[in-house]
Amino acid sequence: MFTKKTIRDIELRDKTVLVRADYNVPVKDGKITDDYRIKQSIPTLKYLLEQGAKVIVCSHLGRPKGPGDASASLFPVAKRLHELLGREVQFVPDCIGERVDKAAANLQPGQVLLLENLRFHPEEEVNDPDFAKQLASIADIFVQDGFGVVHRAHASTEGVTHYLPSVAGLLLEKEVDTITDVMSNPKRPLMAIIGGAKIADKIEILRKFIEIADIITIGGAMANTFLKAQGINVAASLYDKTELSVAKDIMHQAAIESKKRRFTFYIPQDGVVASKIDPSAPTRIVDWSAHLIAEVENYPKRVPAAASHIHEHEMILDAGPFTGAFIAGSMQLAQTVVWNGTLGVTEVKGLQGPVGPFAHGTDLVMESMLGKFIADQPRPFSVVGGGDTVGYVASRGLIGAFDHVSTGGGASLELMGGRKLPGVEALEDK
Ligand code: 3PG
Repeated sequence: MFTKKTIRDIELRDKTVLVRADYNVPVKDGKITDDYRIKQSIPTLKYLLEQGAKVIVCSHLGRPKGPGDASASLFPVAKRLHELLGREVQFVPDCIGERVDKAAANLQPGQVLLLENLRFHPEEEVNDPDFAKQLASIADIFVQDGFGVVHRAHASTEGVTHYLPSVAGLLLEKEVDTITDVMSNPKRPLMAIIGGAKIADKIEILRKFIEIADIITIGGAMANTFLKAQGINVAASLYDKTELSVAKDIMHQAAIESKKRRFTFYIPQDGVVASKIDPSAPTRIVDWSAHLIAEVENYPKRVPAAASHIHEHEMILDAGPFTGAFIAGSMQLAQTVVWNGTLGVTEVKGLQGPVGPFAHGTDLVMESMLGKFIADQPRPFSVVGGGDTVGYVASRGLIGAFDHVSTGGGASLELMGGRKLPGVEALEDK
């Protein structure tokens, strides 16, 4: 249950409201290539406007080095917001200072103003109190709706709340409520699919899911680190040398847990390998299950067959068909699935379509989560998070098909890992 005050709990008529959104969206040549985060902010903005508030929106975009970085300007977002809201969106090329004060003072109820990238001022990220005070000075109320950034204690997430009554927007409420609910009270079996490149980013949620999930499947380059930690040759595959002992420790924790209860920690037993990350590179399947069995159950060691041998120049770039079958099969049992991190190199597009040669594992996760393989198969409640994962789902046009697709990357990981989020903690309690 969300315990913070929201925009539904306060009087908004004629008030100037400063909304912190997370418009950290991908922009290429001045064009937004994925507007999911902007779309998700619309219900809050519409609600505020319908209630007669004057709405000022602020956000960061990227990690700019300084003010003159045009590629990090929020101007393209103003244009997209205008289209999505169906009303004019004013834009000021700064987030504090005279021009901002003037535009804010002239704003009328029902009007929207977007400020320029907060991170053009280094004071934002160091949570400078004077900067936060200046930001707050243009408004009567602060609304936090940028779920993707509430794990940061910055001037626009934490600092500003010292100077204004501060409440949550509708997106923030939905994100925190859904994720907290899934972690504390999931319908079982609960399956977690954790992929992506680095274990370091996901240690906390891995440990958390070992405590609460029924099945965990590992994917992506992170899986290579787990394989390597088990003594399996991953040849030229990307893996993290510095995390081998962490991987061992996580597997140890998982082994202890599976002695206590019915719990499966699944590391891919086969993979798609190639010697180049290229859509036209020849691929083949390597199956190392014989090694895994030997390792785990002390089976007599066998001479590896050709299909279980990876050549020194090859890289594991996607999950293989046995792994896919395990995932699809588990998904039929699961009532709740939390998915964070792609299983392969999804950014390589195919020669003739969006699905490249290393995206089939990720596609299979997506389709089995959506119950596409068996007619009338009840679907699990699905929660998807993480920038690369959401980007892939968006590129396949399937965002709307899942129960909850989080706008947060780091924020959703921290919330799932059980951490307190400074940008949420700073808001007023109900
Ligand atoms: C994100 O994209 O995860 C958020 O916008 C936070 O961005 P940051 O990692 O640059 O703080």
